[in-house]
Order: sequence, then C-alpha cells, then structure tokens
Amino acid sequence: HTRVLTGITTTGTPHLGNYVGAVRPAVLASKDPNVDAFYFMADYHALIKSDDPDRIEASRFKIAATWLAAGLDPNASTFYRQSDIPEVPELMWLLTCVTSKGLLNRAHAYKAAVDRNVEANEDADAGVTAGLYMYPVLMAADILAFNANKVPVGRDQIQHIEMARDIAQRFNHTFGREFFVMPEAHIEEQVATLPGLDGRKMSKSYDNTVPLFEGGAKGMRDAIMKIVTDSRAPGEPKDTEDSALFTIFKAFATPAETAAFADALRGGIGWGEAKQVLFERVEADVAPMRERYEALLSRPDDMEDILLAGAAKARAIAGPLVETLRDAVGLRSAR
Ligand code: TYM
Repeated sequence: HTRVLTGITTTGTPHLGNYVGAVRPAVLASKDPNVDAFYFMADYHALIKSDDPDRIEASRFKIAATWLAAGLDPNASTFYRQSDIPEVPELMWLLTCVTSKGLLNRAHAYKAAVDRNVEANEDADAGVTAGLYMYPVLMAADILAFNANKVPVGRDQIQHIEMARDIAQRFNHTFGREFFVMPEAHIEEQVATLPGLDGRKMSKSYDNTVPLFEGGAKGMRDAIMKIVTDSRAPGEPKDTEDSALFTIFKAFATPAETAAFADALRGGIGWGEAKQVLFERVEADVAPMRERYEALLSRPDDMEDILLAGAAKARAIAGPLVETLRDAVGLRSAR
C-alpha cells in the first residue's frame, strides 16, 4: 500500500488553484484501493500566517467541507485537523533537534522575507517569527508522523518535501535505524500551477484568485470576467499560449473540449464570450459540489463528528510511531 498524504493551510477560502492543484487529484488518488490516503487541514501552519482567530476557525471549517464536497470519503481515508494530533508537534520537536539551522536558512519563504527586509533597509529578520522559520520542520513532522511515501503538492511545496527528506535522513542516521521512509513529492504535471486573474500563480497572497464556492455562481462568474486578457478585439485570432483563461479552461475540460476551445480562440471569438464559455465549463463541475458544500456547512456538528473520528484514526497510527521515536532518543519509560 502507498501512503499518500497532503494538507491545505487554513488561512482562507478555497480557490480554483487549491482545487485543481491539490483537492481534485488527492480525492481521485484516495479512490485507488492500493492507496491509504491521509488528508488534513494544516491549521497549525495557518497560525504562522494569521493571528485572526475567527478567520482560522471559519477557514478550517470551509476547507474541511471542500474536501468532503469534492468527494472525499472519510471512511475510506484518514481525514483530520493537524491540531487534533498532539503527536505532530511532539515529533516536530524531536526533528527540530536534528535539523541544522543552515537548512532552514535556505527555505524559500524565509529567504523571501529576509530579501524583502534587506531591500527595504530593515533588519534582515524584522517581522519574521520563529514560526515562519520553523515552518519546514512542522511540515516534515506532518509527513513523517505517518511515514507517508507520496506527497501530492503544487510546485511551490517541492522544497519543503526535500527538506522533510533531509530531516528524515538525518534522524535515521543519528539514531541508527530506518525509522522513516523517504517521502516523495508528487506533482500533477498537467496542472502544476494554475494561473490567477493576472496570470501569476493563483494565490491568496496575490489577491488574484477565483473562489471555488464563496459567492456562489455569480461570485465565480464575476471573478472569471476579471481575468486579464490582451487587447485583441473580437474577430482577431487569439493566442492560447500564456493565456490564463485558456490554461484554466484546460484544467477542467477534456482534451476534445480543449481542442475545440483553442480553435474558437484562434478563430477570433471575443474575450467576453470566451470568458462566458470558461465560466460555464467550470461551473458545470463546481455546481454539484457547491450544493454539497452548502449542505455540509449547515451541519457543523456532523462535520465535527467526522473530523474527530478522523483524528482518532490518525492518532492510532502516529501514536505508536512517536512512542518508538521517544524510545530511540532516550525518552524511555522506566517501567
Ligand atoms: P497551501 O495551503 O498553500 O496550498 C495547498 C495545496 O494547493 C497547492 N496550490 C496550487 N496548486 C496549483 N495551482 C495553484 N495556483 C495553487 N495554489 C496552491 C499547493 O501547492 C498545495 O499543494 N505547506 C502547505 C500545506 C501543508 C502540507 C503539509 C502539504 C502543511 N503540511 C504536508 C503537504 C504535506 C501549504 O501551505 O499549502
């Protein structure tokens, strides 16, 4: 059996990039009988990015509902909130003590923060919390607590998986046994990075997202109408290369639909009409999920039951592993 594990940080409401890049392939993988799927809400990671309790609370709920609405079967997978698993921060500490500070100095997110500070003539570490600095170790703990083999993520997360391997190797080497298997990042090549409204990677931090469910069909249509296009008028042939609109379409359509849309663009369909076609194609997939999403949000107690049952299942696996590691480092019970 392959253990597949991935998480989503609970800082916002899910967008098309999260769906196409993470949720959809993960839900598909969970249906493979040879896969043990571990999917979770990374709510400890969210605290690094936000100190707004209401936002964190609403987001982890919405992201949980998104997984379920997208078809995840919580009985056929292990579906939980990171913060319900005390073994994760416990393992994080064990890993922290074998992680070189130099490794963390090289993390992209940390380096980007330092670069911004240096650029602005500030102290290099101004505003950088130890939480941001330790982000990769927490993520390594997420993965290693379940000895996951395969971690499906977008490209932006590859470095974190590589660091998890480094840290796992260091731990194995230090304590002389293969406690951890080496996790592999798995990138969905076709949809590695979904562009946002402005053509850059779709991301909350760029404020260029198309919401998956929030705002209903109208919210999605309004966002799609804001996708930046070039100034070519109706009747003029349009490029499909480097077109965010086309790339998003492709992420939802069959190859035949994609070919037909490419023909329409080259044939000079206007951008306004093209956006309407894109909206209808995406909405066809999203509408039934949105209905399930709304239903789930209206039954918070049921969802809490699902999440607590998932946490119990997860702890039954992480608990014994962390116990073994405690023994290995010398934190043994005398009895
Ligand atoms: P996060 O919450 O930023 O994003 C969740 C997943 O969505 C992918 N993604 C995208 N994929 C394609 N196109 C986009 N525009 C796009 N935007 C986001 C991300 O690559 C990611 O796979 N650190 C992680 C969460 C995490 C985690 C883990 C993941 C915590 N622990 C352990 C895997 C294993 C993060 O912040 O993802």
